[in-house]
Amino acid sequence: MTLDRNLAVVGAQWGDEGKGKIVDLLAPAFSVVARSQGGHNAGHTVLVGGRQFILHLIPSGILHPGVTCVIGNGVVIDVGALFAELDGLAAQGIDLGGRLLVSDRAHVILPYHREIERLAEERRGALRIDTTSRGIGPSYEDKAGRRGIRIADLAGGAHGERLAGLVRANVEARNRLVAGEPLDWREVHADAAESWARLQPMVGDVSEFLASALAAGRAVLFEGAQGAMLDLDHGTYPYVTSSNATIGGVCTGLGVGPRAIGSVLGIAKAYTTRVGAGPLPTELDSVLADRLREVGREYGASTGRPRRCGWFDAAVVRRAVRINGIDALAVTKLDVLDALEELRVCTGYRCGEEHLTDLPADVERLEACRPVYETLPGWAQTRGTAGARREADLPAAARAYLDRLEAVCGVPISIVSTGSDRSETIVRPESLGARWLT
Ligand code: IMP
Repeated sequence: MTLDRNLAVVGAQWGDEGKGKIVDLLAPAFSVVARSQGGHNAGHTVLVGGRQFILHLIPSGILHPGVTCVIGNGVVIDVGALFAELDGLAAQGIDLGGRLLVSDRAHVILPYHREIERLAEERRGALRIDTTSRGIGPSYEDKAGRRGIRIADLAGGAHGERLAGLVRANVEARNRLVAGEPLDWREVHADAAESWARLQPMVGDVSEFLASALAAGRAVLFEGAQGAMLDLDHGTYPYVTSSNATIGGVCTGLGVGPRAIGSVLGIAKAYTTRVGAGPLPTELDSVLADRLREVGREYGASTGRPRRCGWFDAAVVRRAVRINGIDALAVTKLDVLDALEELRVCTGYRCGEEHLTDLPADVERLEACRPVYETLPGWAQTRGTAGARREADLPAAARAYLDRLEAVCGVPISIVSTGSDRSETIVRPESLGARWLT
């Protein structure tokens, strides 16, 4: 067994780092691509030969014919959204041909989850999280509350009493919470039960499948969704998502042991973005933020919301490196910085009299922190980085910027992305990425 061939790809910031592109790039070297957490709150945009694919639930590996894709027990699944994504891929000519396996232990998102989430957000008022409104949080709440409904529960079809009982209990609980028209549990049950016929051929025991695949020496890529700062335990709580977007989520969300993960590749943008509410210490004033947003097309792939933009925050990425055990970074969207005269990198925070090199647990304290910056020259006066495919094609200032990011984050940069297409990528020789790409 050569488990060191396996790779986990995780987001090192607040999600949207460009994991989809990197997974798509690396996928041909793998036989299996597996997703372990999150749901259709994620949006992975992949551009191949001018064609754009946006994936939410299905791993980005699906675009490669030889790759089997797995959705683990740690993912929450809106079956309607899954079917819509499958239909969309089929319409774009992607043949799934039995290449998708969905965990029988994954929890489902039902319509009342979205409603409950809307109410919870309304109730929070100014303290709302600005979620993606996909029902993700309430589905995970039901899971932790031991009243969730799993894919395996759908198996009884319309005659399954167990499913009917579970749906009824959950819908009745919803009716006690939500004012106005009560929801008819029979309708929710009928829809859920009906989905089984289409779902069944894709459903199985993911842990068992992965164990056999690993034993047979098939290389597995573990695809993370969201990013370390949105992790339920390690992110900027409560402004986080409801799953573990850091490395532990791979083991619990797929039923594999830690030694199945050979190496960990962290993905970080050359600057920082975040969608939704919560602290973003390096957030930029509107003029520069607008510029980054327009050049970088920083609008959410799932919701279209404008992303907040800021300078690269090394305290954030260092934290992600530590928690995930990241071996190397892929830095994406370097080209978006091409027109800037000057760049800043946050190395820590000034918080009152204190100098911090990591994020404090208390978000109010983090909001009050001021970033400590290093200023580096930009490369606006020289050739840009857009589309560069070799390190030698980068201007000296861009190379110096990357060198500085490596130094302040404490890990090597293995891959640099200089555009949205697969081909617009630099792989540093002798690096972690080169093991799979050359
Ligand atoms: P939820 O995951 O819909 O509950 O949203 C919780 C927070 O995570 C919100 O701030 C969302 O904007 C953010 N979020 C969830 N998924 C993603 C993602 O894939 N990329 C970026 N932000 C995300």
